[in-house]
Amino acid sequence: MTMLDWSDTPSAAPVRTPRADAPAADATGLGAIDRTGGRVSIDDKAMINCRADVNQLLPMKYRWAWEKYLAGCNNHWMPTEVSMQADIALWKSRDGLTEDERRAVKRNLGFFAASESLVANNIVLAIYRHLTNPECRQYLLRQAFEEAVHTHTFQYVVDSLGLDEGELFNMYREVPSITDKAAWALDYTRNLSDPSFRTGTPAADQAFLRDLVAFYVVFEGMWFYTGFAQILSLGRRNKMVGIAEQYQYILRDESIHLNFGIDVINQIKIENPHLWTGEFQQELRGMLAEAAELEAAYGRDTMPRGFLGLNAALCGQYMHFIANRRCAQLGLAPVFAETENPFPWMSEAMDLKKEKNFFETRVIEYQNGGALSWD
Ligand SMILES: [Fe+2]
Ligand SMILES: [Fe+2]
Repeated sequence: MTMLDWSDTPSAAPVRTPRADAPAADATGLGAIDRTGGRVSIDDKAMINCRADVNQLLPMKYRWAWEKYLAGCNNHWMPTEVSMQADIALWKSRDGLTEDERRAVKRNLGFFAASESLVANNIVLAIYRHLTNPECRQYLLRQAFEEAVHTHTFQYVVDSLGLDEGELFNMYREVPSITDKAAWALDYTRNLSDPSFRTGTPAADQAFLRDLVAFYVVFEGMWFYTGFAQILSLGRRNKMVGIAEQYQYILRDESIHLNFGIDVINQIKIENPHLWTGEFQQELRGMLAEAAELEAAYGRDTMPRGFLGLNAALCGQYMHFIANRRCAQLGLAPVFAETENPFPWMSEAMDLKKEKNFFETRVIEYQNGGALSWD
């Protein structure tokens, strides 16, 4: 098992502009075959607006994308392998959970249940066709499957606990604080999934970057993290331990999704510096600030009174801490005043350096278990 190492980040490789006589860009890989074209060289490859054949994985240009594909494959898991017995007993017992805890758990599950689908649809229907690089697409295909596994997790939880499936899967429509978050992100993907949308102008390329920020940085990189904090906080107190274990596996996947998204954005930035204007950076920082505000409203709604050392104010502070961290990863100035991480225990399980060690044992355990069934 290799350690997950994100130090292999985008590099400033020389960028070759497409040949003037190149055929019209076929970003899909499904266009007419160019029988007279030359073989693809590394310098022909680019993240967006690439005119080189997108069906040729090799020669590989972006090792960081391939490394994440391999890491995702090494982390394979299925929700049904986690026992739900303790959760079922606790959920069904009259005083196992307080009303506040039940409300938070249900809203958390409801938020994630639909969000996994939104993220998956954004990858498949919006991102994929505009990201014109085969090694990045290889990762997107892996990520799309992982999102399916995550959606499966919520089906399995609903089934195990006997929850009202209609209530849970409709929360993104029926609970305003959840709807507001989903609607905010959907505005960005709707633009890109329009069949007439094409990258290739600064305005369109910036629209693509906005969608990457909305889904990878905000949805998966900010909102999911307070969701993880809620459930892992219960798990630390021995409540809903099956769901908490599943969330740890989801978190491990999501931390790679987030890091992939950050690398994609930074590589596009390197190859297209004209897109990264001061005005655009301001706009992206504004998106992160808005996202933190939406999360604060969700926190007040899901935890009106707080429980087990968790409350809306602390979650709001945590979101500020995370938002600033995402800014640093993207090379943006921080959005909020410097703040302490109110959940230092989360750093063991989250996106800080320690997570690699934190999950190392689990990865090995899982792979041993998984390997047996194939013998
Ligand atoms: Fe996911
Ligand atoms: Fe994800």
